[in-house]
Amino acid sequence: MNRREIVLASIVHVLGARPNFVKAAPVIGALRAAGAEQAVIHTGQHYDARMSEIFFTELGLPEPDVNLGVGSGGHAEQTAALLVGLEKEFTSRSPALVIVYGDVNSTIAAALVAAKLQIPVAHVEAGLRSFDMSMPEEVNRRITDQLSALCLVTSPEGIGHLAAEGVPVHRTHLVGNPMIDTLLANLGSFDTDRVREAHGLPGRYVLATMHRPANVDAPETAAALVRHLHGVADLADLVIPVHPRGRANLLAAGLDDHDGVHILEPLGYIDFIAAVRGAAAVVTDSGGLQEETTILGVPCLTVRPNTERPITITHGTNRLVTFEELVPGVRKSLDGGSGGSSPLIGTAPEPGPVAADRKPPLWDGHAGPRIAEVIMRYLGE
Ligand code: UD1
Repeated sequence: MNRREIVLASIVHVLGARPNFVKAAPVIGALRAAGAEQAVIHTGQHYDARMSEIFFTELGLPEPDVNLGVGSGGHAEQTAALLVGLEKEFTSRSPALVIVYGDVNSTIAAALVAAKLQIPVAHVEAGLRSFDMSMPEEVNRRITDQLSALCLVTSPEGIGHLAAEGVPVHRTHLVGNPMIDTLLANLGSFDTDRVREAHGLPGRYVLATMHRPANVDAPETAAALVRHLHGVADLADLVIPVHPRGRANLLAAGLDDHDGVHILEPLGYIDFIAAVRGAAAVVTDSGGLQEETTILGVPCLTVRPNTERPITITHGTNRLVTFEELVPGVRKSLDGGSGGSSPLIGTAPEPGPVAADRKPPLWDGHAGPRIAEVIMRYLGE
């Protein structure tokens, strides 16, 4: 093997949590097409079949080469287990490059271990900033970007954020959004009629997902949130696939004590996006869902004081709301008001993708190949 073949022979992807799987699928596919040898390390941060396995099956991800089984725990406990497990793996595999995704604890742990072993890191979804250091994800993003040889940026403002933090420009690449690659690649599978029937969903509904620590960890906050969600359910049926985090607090606060609330287990990717596509509006505190609703043209109310994805407000259907603004915001969206900016809101029987000229730049289904190109060029140099 010559040097070029050796370096291309050892790209390691580190995946840990649900959103990582959705972002990695097009990158792994594009690198496979480019002839790269790859391995997948699953950290085991998410481990329930509905949080992990179903995504691998539906997205055609390769079986992980190893699962570290780190599981849940406090930040220190979980991150420590990640550091120890990843150091062993990276030491024995000596990869030429490690690819990390998003902003979860598996992301920062892998970047830290790789940097200390002097293995270059490529960060997919670099440059996003909420400027809210109370969120663990913001800490993870900032540190991961500082440690990365390649910052692969989904949204133009990310380039400016990285420059402001002193990341050299030759490390930053605007590549588009691989989560949207996955969405567009599977558009034909999001059958809203099928998902309605399979999960007994009502004809017209608002879909909610809530899992941020700031919204669900404290029982009194969870109780306040439930009161407002009941207010939404007074307007329209409310469908909630419940993330395991916060499940206990939301149920203890009486989430299902309302006839209009339909609680579901976490859904796989295809059923979940089909349910989003069929929703009259979405209420969420997720990051990825702000992006997916932007492309699907479904009004999105994000129950957070800030977002690291402002482009979903300027170019999409997203709007930030407080607890108090939630019910009026949903009412406005259901009335076809300014709950979002999609031209399709309230007019189409089923929302469809937004017009190409309104989409965030490079959210075009080709981020995976762009990422593969940047990585192959880097490894070839
Ligand atoms: C993590 C990410 C968050 C991301 C989310 C997507 C961090 C700091 N947070 O949050 O950015 O938006 O994933 O889902 O990395 N649990 C299960 N089964 C599982 C996984 C988790 O029951 O398969 C429960 C456990 O009680 C666990 C809790 O969920 O303690 C939280 O899991 P964890 O991975 O620590 O964080 P998430 O809230 O999922």
